[in-house]
Amino acid sequence: FSIPFPKNEPVLEYRAGSPEREALKKAIKELRSQELDIPMTIGGQKVRTDEKMRLSPPHDHKHTLGHFHYGDKGHVKQAIRAALAAKESWEELPWTNRATIFLKAADLIAGEYRAKINAATVLGQSKNAYQAEIDAACEFIDFLRFNAYFMQEIYEKQPVSDNGIWNKLEYRPLEGFVFALTPFNFTAIAGNLPASAALMGNVIVWKPAFTQIYSAHVIMEVFEKAGMPDGVINLIFTDGPETGDVIFNHKDFAGIHFTGSTGVFQTIWKEIGKNIQKYVSYPRIVGETGGKDFVVAHHTANAKQVATALVRGAFEFQGQKCSAASRAYLPQNIWKEVKETMTEMLAEIKMGSPEVYGNFINAVIDEKSYDKIANYIDNAKKDKNVKVIAGGNHDKSKGYFIEPTVLKVEDPKYVTMCEEIFGPVLTIYVYPENDFEDILTLTDQTSPYALTGSIFAHDRTAVELATKKLKNAAGNFYINDKPTGAVVGQQPFGGARASGTNDKAGSYLNLLRWVSPRTIKETF
Ligand code: NAD
Ligand code: ALA
Repeated sequence: FSIPFPKNEPVLEYRAGSPEREALKKAIKELRSQELDIPMTIGGQKVRTDEKMRLSPPHDHKHTLGHFHYGDKGHVKQAIRAALAAKESWEELPWTNRATIFLKAADLIAGEYRAKINAATVLGQSKNAYQAEIDAACEFIDFLRFNAYFMQEIYEKQPVSDNGIWNKLEYRPLEGFVFALTPFNFTAIAGNLPASAALMGNVIVWKPAFTQIYSAHVIMEVFEKAGMPDGVINLIFTDGPETGDVIFNHKDFAGIHFTGSTGVFQTIWKEIGKNIQKYVSYPRIVGETGGKDFVVAHHTANAKQVATALVRGAFEFQGQKCSAASRAYLPQNIWKEVKETMTEMLAEIKMGSPEVYGNFINAVIDEKSYDKIANYIDNAKKDKNVKVIAGGNHDKSKGYFIEPTVLKVEDPKYVTMCEEIFGPVLTIYVYPENDFEDILTLTDQTSPYALTGSIFAHDRTAVELATKKLKNAAGNFYINDKPTGAVVGQQPFGGARASGTNDKAGSYLNLLRWVSPRTIKETF
């Protein structure tokens, strides 16, 4: 048994008449024509409650997709018990068997489940076919395959025996259970957080964001079909703080695999700190959190390249990507051309339902996000020091639609240059072209985040200077490229500072967080 270095899953194109487009159309039609009843999964049992909550497409909020069963603290406790009951047999299973389950899950998504998981992501999270394909199919498949490969590398690397001494490093799973707490914006991330920790032999309580439950339940179906034993991954639909209350008070809480906002992560960290003496071991705290991702251009940058990177980086996925470009620093000499090119590109972009091909901008996830983003835009419109270069309109009558909006500010520390908005809003500051070095300092110091960022320059000394001065400002740094679209196996992903613990999703570094190694020495 040897896992070869995986190839990235090819992204299908969804051209008119292609089999993938037809399959997706059929899957969307099927899902739309029924109201799903979505239970929790605890210890392999489907758990239904008396309280049900409605799910609807963000782009068509009057339509009902189905209901999920809402659990309480008792269900969280039940999930912990089920996980602990499954622990011994799961961790004793040879790693090759665990790998087989996740590799099979990857093959199922690449094959018979591709249309279904993409359709659930289109309807539940308002992503168009290409966005769903990149996220729910390709990135998720890549996570599963690369993680299995990296696990093999970890298990096969052993200290060398020497002079009658036998040394072994045993990669034990953590003692207790792992809590996977996942965000709405990526189906792949929601699936990867429980999967990567489980792959390394851990048992999991998984609570997704309510706005991602529609695709989460397809992920669970895939794991089950791939042969996941009961109780290894327990999927619950419970209130965040209530769930935390039970989990962080439990002595067997061994770690959290989190992706979400910085504020929630900091609350959780404090909660864990408060309870630290209750735990059997110090819990592993792994969190990927918010971003305020930058694009800096030098006066030697190619204006068209910068404009394309800004439009794609800021507005693909409705800007609801932790890596989305949201603040840009452009030198005066290229500003006019960047602005003209962006305006031309934005004029071509259509906004609307992701179920209609050609709509590049779809709805943001829910009313709370919509109101937050619209509020930033409306305040900017009223500010005499801010100019709206493009967009600025929004409408929530049918779905949560917000136009791709470009703001130009006089103050480089204006609120939309500093805070994470998590929507299709890009703020630009135009600087005198000789101030490049000061702009790098400003970029570094303007926001507490450090997730992604780009430098655009033809001049290599400018590239070198930016790479050095922005050393701590981004965990994923791009040269002459947009700050989004990290590919699993090629660019391990994660940020530092307020953007997370930087444990690099999609790499062996992340997997090593889910083991507690034991060194064994034997003399003979
Ligand atoms: P969120 O923080 O609102 O929610 C994340 C999860 O935490 C959800 O399951 C939610 O129900 C739960 N939760 C919320 N409050 C809680 C509490 N007090 N106690 C326990 N659980 C709680 O995040 P979101 O809106 O789902 O996702 C968007 C955020 O995620 C953005 O800030 C984005 O930058 C970030 N994100 C980061 C990365 C990354 O890799 N750095 C990737 C994707 C998303
Ligand atoms: N991994 C995703 C990106 O890089 C979030 O854009």
